[in-house]
Amino acid sequence: MSKKRILITRRLPEAVEARARAAYDVVQHADDRQMGIDEVLETAKSVDALLITLNEKCRKDVIDRMPENIKIISTFSIGFDHLDLEACKARGIAVGNAPHGVTVATAEIAMLLLLGSARRASEGEHMIRTRSWPGWAPLQLVGQRLDGKKLGIYGFGKIGQALAQRARGFDMEIHYYDIYRQPADKGKGAIYHETLDSLLSVSQFFSINAPSTPETRYFFNKDVIAKLPQGAIVVNTARGDLVNDEDMIAALKSGRLAYAGLDVFAGEPKIHEGYYDLPNTFLFPHLGSAAIEARNQMGFEALDNIDAAFAGKDMPFKLA
Ligand code: DGY
Repeated sequence: MSKKRILITRRLPEAVEARARAAYDVVQHADDRQMGIDEVLETAKSVDALLITLNEKCRKDVIDRMPENIKIISTFSIGFDHLDLEACKARGIAVGNAPHGVTVATAEIAMLLLLGSARRASEGEHMIRTRSWPGWAPLQLVGQRLDGKKLGIYGFGKIGQALAQRARGFDMEIHYYDIYRQPADKGKGAIYHETLDSLLSVSQFFSINAPSTPETRYFFNKDVIAKLPQGAIVVNTARGDLVNDEDMIAALKSGRLAYAGLDVFAGEPKIHEGYYDLPNTFLFPHLGSAAIEARNQMGFEALDNIDAAFAGKDMPFKLA
């Protein structure tokens, strides 16, 4: 029996590609060049399924143009804000994501952002790299410790909980707000807040771990910032479009916020110009899941969806 053909829009870790090639005829750019959406749609005509990434924005207009033969889309990401699920459902396209592989890796990056922001890591590194370190001094780049501080986690799903576990190891006091209250065993002593306002009022450190949805998009604005303690530190490893960049930048400039550690940005990779010269930021290029263990698992989860769909079963990580 001839193999099914699948389009994989980017190069993936070796182990993932090996599994994909063993099962399928893989169509892919060997040089990892980003495919434009028109190229994806054109290539889609000659394959049986798509394995895409968060870079391929499949909004309604794109899904409406998807060739009839495409009934399976699996995304190499936990996030699915780049996919219009309603439009997929309407076209009878089964969609799945990769929800588990990212958890620990993303929580680690959130922890790194918390530490790097509290201890002013980017300013220190800048001093070294620009050969401008005058030598040790008692008041040089003095930050603050994490222990005993209150960490407010907005979005207490798997990643939020994994961050809480790590932050407990640094003796932080964990607070959270989520539309779902976790049972005590999952909360592990984390203090639940009934409202976001209540969480904000205690959050000396505030971590954004919620998905991008119409309800959360741009929620982090000047009104929200005004409810945080003076000099709070904010980290975001979720999605950039949860943040109003103008308001965040103004608060960092005025000192209302002491520091921001950001791994994700609205409009990536063209981030808001205002961030480039702000010293009190610790900025990463969307590294959350960039650990080989995570990327392998993400790939396997994405392939599990495709395998199941071809076998006529429900995708294990079905979204639509
Ligand atoms: C995801 O999987 O959605 C992450 O943002 C990738 O790092």
